[in-house]
Amino acid sequence: MTKKITIAIDGFSSTGKSTIAKQLAKELSYIYVDTGAMYRAVTLYAMQHNYISENHFNSEGLVADLPNISLSFTFNEKLGFAEMFLNGINVEKEIRSIEVSKLVSKVAEVSEIRKKLVREQQEMGKNKGIVMDGRDIGTVVFPNAELKLFMTASADKRATRRYKELLDRGDKVNYEEILHNVQERDRIDSTRKDSPLIIADDAIEFDNSDMGLKEQFERIMSLVNLKVQ
Ligand code: DC
Repeated sequence: MTKKITIAIDGFSSTGKSTIAKQLAKELSYIYVDTGAMYRAVTLYAMQHNYISENHFNSEGLVADLPNISLSFTFNEKLGFAEMFLNGINVEKEIRSIEVSKLVSKVAEVSEIRKKLVREQQEMGKNKGIVMDGRDIGTVVFPNAELKLFMTASADKRATRRYKELLDRGDKVNYEEILHNVQERDRIDSTRKDSPLIIADDAIEFDNSDMGLKEQFERIMSLVNLKVQ
């Protein structure tokens, strides 16, 4: 009989956290939660209600409006993962746009927003059997997680992955703009006051710049197997 554990995956943007997290959740029949999608959905709401644009951010207005933001995930059998819903509407595609990517780090800096999302994330994981990815999962959301991974890869490798993803879905994209966005998000995510992106003391670091998905998955599964005995 194996026991259910909590797996926390943190790391920089576009390090393939969600790909590996989805695979692990499938293999273990665990719930998978992409917390970045939650910050992105709040950002989309802020854009739709004119709280944020490239040169202004009314964070107080957005915070006052937080009770009206309802986030949920619904599993899509065909895709094999849960899609993000904002106030009952599927926003999975919109939240991945470059416009949202450009503004999300600013929204994720606001403590009141982090508090709300962290509370919801802890609730989703209260029965364990969960793989959650983000920036503060092993440090803030689940400091007692049995397995903590920290993913890294060079900015250039990450921007190339993101560029291909966006091209594949038919977006018009510019590589330099994406590289700049990746670097800018790294900077804001690692230097913000509340819950900056740092490696938890007991996290295992994975640099996957030159590691294939299969090798990564196998290595991580062997770590999982040690913990679920
Ligand atoms: O993982 P992602 O790139 O979709 O995340 C989008 C942004 O949300 C990222 O710039 C940082 C922020 N984020 C965060 O601050 N804390 C989390 N747990 C997850 C994401």
